[in-house]
Amino acid sequence: MFRCSECGAAAPQWTGRCPGCGVWNTLGEERVEPSTTPPAAAARHPAQPIGKVEAAHWAHRPTGVAELDRLLGGGLVPGSVTLLGGEPGIGKSTLLLQVAAARARAGSTVLYVSAEESGPQVKLRAERLGALPDRLWLASDSSVPELVAHLDQVRPEVLVVDSIQTVHDPDLSSAPGSVGQVRESAHRLVQEAKARAVATVLVGHVTKDGSLAGPRVLEHLVDTVLSFEGDRHHALRLLRAVKHRFGSTDDLGLFEMTATGLAPVRDPSALFLADRQPDVAGSVVVPVMDGFRPLLIEIQALLVARAGSVARRAGQGIDSGRLGLLAAVAEQRAGVPLRERDVHALAVGGVAVDEPGADLGVVLAIASAAHNRPFPSDLVACGEVGLGGEVRQVGQLERRLTEAARIGFRRALVPPSAPAPPSGIEVIRVRNVVEAAQAAGVARPAAVAEVA
Ligand code: TYD
Ligand code: MG
Repeated sequence: MFRCSECGAAAPQWTGRCPGCGVWNTLGEERVEPSTTPPAAAARHPAQPIGKVEAAHWAHRPTGVAELDRLLGGGLVPGSVTLLGGEPGIGKSTLLLQVAAARARAGSTVLYVSAEESGPQVKLRAERLGALPDRLWLASDSSVPELVAHLDQVRPEVLVVDSIQTVHDPDLSSAPGSVGQVRESAHRLVQEAKARAVATVLVGHVTKDGSLAGPRVLEHLVDTVLSFEGDRHHALRLLRAVKHRFGSTDDLGLFEMTATGLAPVRDPSALFLADRQPDVAGSVVVPVMDGFRPLLIEIQALLVARAGSVARRAGQGIDSGRLGLLAAVAEQRAGVPLRERDVHALAVGGVAVDEPGADLGVVLAIASAAHNRPFPSDLVACGEVGLGGEVRQVGQLERRLTEAARIGFRRALVPPSAPAPPSGIEVIRVRNVVEAAQAAGVARPAAVAEVA
C-alpha cells in the first residue's frame, strides 16, 4: 500500500500525485500489517452504567507552569496524551523542559526523551533555565522498545517525547520518518501511556503551511492538541488548545521568550500598547477577543501613493482580503479617497487579528491616516462592519470594554445595539462608519463642515 506523507490518504498503487490532497511526490510505500484486534466476542471491558464508571484518576495535576495549567483546565491528566505542535524554533523544547522541571521539583518523576538534541545539549539548556531537579530524567533514544525500557526503569509520572517525528519502531517495515512510522509509534506510546497512567506530552513539528508535519492523523490519536504560535521576531508566544478532551478549548496561554526561558505575560494588553504613539494619525486601539481572553491591540494604517497599476491592500496580522473589503467600504461609504493609494495595515506586536470585532478599528485607522487626523488616545473602537458601512454587534462586548477600562481607556465606539457598558468606560453608539469617523474626529474635513 502507498500512503501520502501530507494528508495520510492511502492508495493501492504508486502515483505521482496524491489522490487525496493532490500534492505531488508525497506517496511512500507502507506494508500493511495484519490486524491484531482481538475477536469482538470477548469484551475485556464490559459495559457499565455511566454512574459506576471509575473516573477518579482522570483528575488534572498541575504542571507548575501556571499559563499551561489554566489552558488545560488544571494541569496534565495521568494517562492522557498531549501533542504540542509548533514551528521549529518557536520554543517547544524550552516550554516542555520548564514544565518537566516544574513537575519534578513538585515531587513527580519525569522522563524527558530528547531525540532531537543530545543529552549534554539538553543539560546545558536546562542549566540556563535553572532546571536541574533530581527527579528529572533524561534519555535520548528514539526507538519505541528503548522508550518502553526507559519507562520500565524510571517509572515516571510524566513523559515528554521531543519529537514524535524522530520516534521509530524497528518492528515496522516502513521507512523511519514516514507517516506510517510516526502514526504507529505514536499509537504504541498512547497505549503505553494509558496502561501506565503516565501523562505524556509529544512534540510535533509543524510545516510551513501550519499543518502538523505529515501526520494530521496524530490529532485524533491523542487527547489534547496544543499549538504554540508566535512571530519569531517578537518575544510573545501564544499557546492554544486546538483540541482538549478534558476541558474547553477557548482559552489562551501567553508567554514571553526571555534570556532565561519562557515567562508568563501577566498584562498582555499593556505589553502590546507599551510603545504606542497616540498622536500619530492612522493608529486605533481595538479590544479583540482571542478565545475567552480580551486583548487590546493597536491597528495601524499607512497610505502611500499607488506604486503599481493596481492599488495594493497589504495587511500584516490582518487578512489582506478583509483589508481590501474594509478599504472598499471606507472609500464608498465614508468617502475616504483610496483609489490612487496603496493601503498598508498592521496589527502591532506579532499577533494575528482575525475576528470581525476589529473591522471598525481598521476602517477608522484608514480614515485617520487618509485625513492625517490622529485618533483620540482615550478611545477604542469595536464593531463588525458590513458592506453598507453599518456597524454591527460583536460578541462579549462587556469583557472587551472591561479590559479597555482597566488599561485606562475612557470611551468606546460601539454598535447601536450594544448593552450598557461596564463602569469606568463610556460608550458612543454609532450606526455606521461615517458616524464613527465623525465621533472620533477622523472624518473628511468637508463631512465635518456639513455636520457643523
Ligand atoms: P526551542 O525551545 O529550541 O524551540 P523548538 O523546540 O520549538 O524548536 O527554542 C527556540 C529559541 O528560543 C531559540 O532560538 C533560542 C530561544 N531561547 C531563548 O531566547 N531563551 C531561552 O532561555 C532558551 C532556552 C531559548
Ligand atoms: Mg526543539
